[in-house]
Amino acid sequence: MPKSVHVAWDAACGANARMRANNARFGSWFNSVMPKGLYARSLIIIVTPMVILQSVLAFVFMERHYNTVTRRLSAAVSQDISAIADFAVAFPSPEGREQVRQIAQSSMGLSVDFLPDEHLPPPGPKPFFSILDSNFTGELGKRLRRPFWTDTVGNSNLIEVRIQFDDMVMRIFARRSQAYLSNSHIFLVWMVGTSLVLLAVAILFLRNQIKPIEALADAAIAFGKGRDVTGFRPRGAREVRGAALAFLEMRRRIERQIEQRTTMLAGVSHDMRTILTRFKLELAFLNEAETDALRKDVDELQSMLEAYLAFARDDMGEPPVLTDIARLIEEARVNGERHGAGVTSAFSGDPMVTLRPDAFRRCLANLVANGWRYADRIDINGTRAERWLIVTVDDNGPGIPPERREEVFRPFFRLDEARNQDAGGSGLGLTIARDAARAHGGDVSLGDSPLGGLRATIRIPV
Ligand SMILES: Nc1ncnc2c1ncn2[C@@H]1O[C@H](COP(=O)(O)OP(=O)(O)OP(=O)(O)O)[C@@H](O)[C@H]1O
Ligand SMILES: [Mg+2]
Repeated sequence: MPKSVHVAWDAACGANARMRANNARFGSWFNSVMPKGLYARSLIIIVTPMVILQSVLAFVFMERHYNTVTRRLSAAVSQDISAIADFAVAFPSPEGREQVRQIAQSSMGLSVDFLPDEHLPPPGPKPFFSILDSNFTGELGKRLRRPFWTDTVGNSNLIEVRIQFDDMVMRIFARRSQAYLSNSHIFLVWMVGTSLVLLAVAILFLRNQIKPIEALADAAIAFGKGRDVTGFRPRGAREVRGAALAFLEMRRRIERQIEQRTTMLAGVSHDMRTILTRFKLELAFLNEAETDALRKDVDELQSMLEAYLAFARDDMGEPPVLTDIARLIEEARVNGERHGAGVTSAFSGDPMVTLRPDAFRRCLANLVANGWRYADRIDINGTRAERWLIVTVDDNGPGIPPERREEVFRPFFRLDEARNQDAGGSGLGLTIARDAARAHGGDVSLGDSPLGGLRATIRIPV
């Protein structure tokens, strides 16, 4: 590529990128000012075109039709007035003027007075925005070749014109409606009125359309948090109903899967326990010294199975209820102290949260148990923020290296077999804790504690 082409190409790319950046910025700005709810957004979609359409209509109507008609009417009245003025000059005798007065009254609908020895009053203030005033005064000025004075505002139903002659002033009253398309506001009233009716109808319809979507969202959120979804049934438009049916089907499948897993786990554990018991009986008849190691293994296997069984049983649906979290934390503190650790606890925010109390208690108890097993100081901290319940359990133990913090959640996984063989942990504690938190739509994560050991964080959406 020649150099100049290169430069032009680069410039074009730069302009393109800038335009895209601008578009993106406009997009995010637009999103931030738009309301977030579906209801408000749909209303805007309906109202915006309506307002634009009506504004254009009103403008065109006022500008064209209304202005033209008013100008024509004003022209007609000012023609009449200038004719009367010419007559008044042509017939200066009192009888003549009386006749002029009568003709004006009967044929033109104008009431005329002659005020001898008078002068024009000083010009009044101009009305700020009046099509009538500007049109009418303009038209009169074009036709009358005399000084005149008008008042289009003063007396509401009449307009007054005074014309200066040499010896007198002629005063003329015309009806306002003669010179002015006066009922044009009816058009605006109709327009605004019908749009209000339209808007009301739209709001009613929209509300009915959006309710099922909101219900679906609520049901999905409740299910995600492990709460009961009661009284939800598909309603509304075909697509919404389709989504609701799909959600119900998905929920049934997930529940069935959990149930299947639980029963299978319980069944397997139970069957194996029977065999293990037989094993132990048979071992009892053998020589003590030779079977010592074997017996230990069987014992360990049995305690693992017991743990599995307990785990599987715990899964069976516990209903979520309003629970005092501060009390559960206090309970966990007392429990930790009973096992000889120095435990402190604190809670801030509203302590009443809807969750499964036993599952949550188990979750917290397992984390605290790890604390007293692997450390001697524990610090439990609970906070209830706007949408989350967060409980941290800190200790001053050896901690867990970052690269192993996922592994320890695996069932029966123990970090350092030698370290806690005697302690008799089965390696299910963290698994159970995470399982309980996830059943609430939350999670348990591990990190570094300011006390020097491990920080376990329970996060549950509320
Ligand atoms: N607070 C902690 N400090 C240091 N290591 C920990 C801590 N908590 C857990 N661990 C490590 O993670 C492993 C898994 O913990 P987990 O609670 O799942 O099982 P466990 O404590 O061994 O047995 P249990 O089923 O009785 O709880 C533990 O074996 C331990 O090595
Ligand atoms: Mg444990």
